[in-house]
Amino acid sequence: MAVKINDSEKQFHLYNSKLSYVIGEGPDGGIEQLYFGKRINENQILKGYQTRCGRPLCCPANEEETYSKELGLREYPSFGTGDFRGAAYEICQENGSRVTELVFKSYEVCSGKKKIPGLPASYVNNEDEATTLKLTCFDEVAKVEVVLYYTLFENYPIITRNVSFKNLGKEELKLTKALSCCIDFFDNEYDLVQFEGAWGRERYPKIRAIEKGIMQVESMRGHSSPNFNPFVIIKRKNTDEFQGEAIGINLVYSGNFLARIEAGSFGGFRFTMGINPTWFQWPLGENEEFYTPEVIITYTNDGLNDLSQNIHRFMNNQLVRSPYKNKPRPILLNNWEATEMNFDEEKILKIARKGKEAGVELFVLDDGWFGKRNNDYAGLGDWFVNTDKLPDGISGLSKKINEIGLDFGLWIEPEMVNEDSDLYRAHPDWVLAAPNRKKTLGRHQMVLDYSKPEVVDYIYDMLHKVISTASISYIKWDMNRAITECYSQNVPADRQGMVYHKYIMGVYSLYERLIQEFPNILFESCASGGGRFDAGMLYYAPQAWCSDDTDGHERVKIQYGTSYGYPISSIGAHVSASPNQQTGRTMDIDDRANIACFGTFGYELDLNEVSEEEFERVKKQIEFMKKYRGLFQYGTLYRLQSPFEKNTASWMVVSEDKSLAIVAIYRSLKTPNDELERIKLQGLTENAIYEINHKEMYYGDLLMAQGIGTMEPAENWFESDNDFTSRMFILEQHVTK
Ligand code: GLA
Repeated sequence: MAVKINDSEKQFHLYNSKLSYVIGEGPDGGIEQLYFGKRINENQILKGYQTRCGRPLCCPANEEETYSKELGLREYPSFGTGDFRGAAYEICQENGSRVTELVFKSYEVCSGKKKIPGLPASYVNNEDEATTLKLTCFDEVAKVEVVLYYTLFENYPIITRNVSFKNLGKEELKLTKALSCCIDFFDNEYDLVQFEGAWGRERYPKIRAIEKGIMQVESMRGHSSPNFNPFVIIKRKNTDEFQGEAIGINLVYSGNFLARIEAGSFGGFRFTMGINPTWFQWPLGENEEFYTPEVIITYTNDGLNDLSQNIHRFMNNQLVRSPYKNKPRPILLNNWEATEMNFDEEKILKIARKGKEAGVELFVLDDGWFGKRNNDYAGLGDWFVNTDKLPDGISGLSKKINEIGLDFGLWIEPEMVNEDSDLYRAHPDWVLAAPNRKKTLGRHQMVLDYSKPEVVDYIYDMLHKVISTASISYIKWDMNRAITECYSQNVPADRQGMVYHKYIMGVYSLYERLIQEFPNILFESCASGGGRFDAGMLYYAPQAWCSDDTDGHERVKIQYGTSYGYPISSIGAHVSASPNQQTGRTMDIDDRANIACFGTFGYELDLNEVSEEEFERVKKQIEFMKKYRGLFQYGTLYRLQSPFEKNTASWMVVSEDKSLAIVAIYRSLKTPNDELERIKLQGLTENAIYEINHKEMYYGDLLMAQGIGTMEPAENWFESDNDFTSRMFILEQHVTK
């Protein structure tokens, strides 16, 4: 068991070879944070080490005035008793008081990890992979029991946290804030790295210095959003990709979130993260419980590459559930950019046949196959086939696609409805809409009220009919607008604060039912591209369409940023047509493929339209990807040079035994008579010889110490190229015969 408990001191030390997380009973009887960071001796007693005495104008917690909550490092701080920083939770009681005070009552330790009811969460494959510590606290006045859960994974520098609330009294309580974690940092010599953007430029990393005051990233869009991602890094100022201390926090949640930093007057800062408390209000009747989502907290002392590699390994092994877990992903061909909604069966089969000829494995039929869906003004909600386009239905088409020798995949957008749809005409009260107010549309559609189980049931039945009567091996689940008027019709006023969270719980429940019913389907999530790319979604759908922006040059930035918090196996990436539909930029088809292969890989164009010469190259790309996709998707990724800093960007993947590696270098603009440049490699065996693209041979130590020239080892390739070019180097460990 990786937890050392000192009963007399009431100290709990969770540890593995990389990290220590120590908490214990504080002077106020609540739980105090004692240490979090690099592994320290588990016998160390820390009681009193962090306790801070009262200062002028503080409101001390004890008569001796030796402890002030405002200066303490607190594990799950409450509101109203002298800690003036943001609380981790708030409970409004029937008399209107929001004051609570949690007192530690008991603990429990067990092997493994329990599921969180109704929510996605990391899991163990065997009980001995992790140890869970449960600390039960109680507020005597409100009669609420709060349990803090910690799971430490043996083989990862990772600890997960979540919290549950239970009302043990008779009066109804209202949870108005229920965050998943609080971490109080002792000093503020740190930076925050946030992943920000918008549609088409998702998850750009942005570093902000932590200074006194409040900074936060959040979503109030009803989905995790392309604007700010529910993954952040807190790093020491000198930490870079290759060295230094950093902590990554992934919230396993897909709805409104908040990550907040509050740096106060006494040094240090408070980090809290969880469901966004804005407009959140959850009534708790007698014996009712509420569970917060989980946070995955990853620690490193070895730089951001190490941080990401651990997150990647963890998500691939302990979060993703699917028959495709740790399996190479099928190379797909999607018709969206080729046809949009303007297709018929003949056109689709023609595209699919050409895909088969190129070596593609899965054909995906995108938007436009159902209801009266000929443009985006109509049809959403009517999940029955449009027989004008597909006379033999999805079942007939899927069989024909199978006969061609391809698997068949289908696009759905089950959370939405158009005004012009049979579903809306029959159930106008099934959309989120405020009484007597205009309904704000997004992409001409409204959001179905998934906080109502009957809506979820209805959609499930409709989808079940389509899926069970066809041969479907993949589903792309889209979500193309944010929630605006978040109001559930015909639901009492005091239940409206539940709607955002119940909505996403409804989405999770539909996912769960479909996965249970159709366990062999590979799900890919999508929200106008990367608008809901988060750890919660990955629990249901192991891959996500990374961005609607398929321009290769833009994709280097988007995929690079995404790789900080999410594995390459989860990054949906396709080669699309040139000039690109989003940017108008022209790029060679090999350069487009060289970025898509750092992802799930596929095509988003009509291969009948490419030249014969390009088609031959597509065949080679697919052959190449089939050979190396295991390495791309599950190898150890090293970011070598950031596209946000230089004209050339680079990253590489290395196999587990280090015998094989692939390095990619991308150059943005061509520069005349450019400076010489070398990129230092990572993760190779120092004293092994590597053969590069079957040409030059160098020892791993040289390649890591001095790097490879961006103009070598082949011809002066940069000299002869255009803007937005790339090169790929395959490094094979040389075996002397
Ligand atoms: C979204 C998706 C696209 C495509 C369209 C279809 O924009 O991100 O990939 O599926 O919807 O309407």
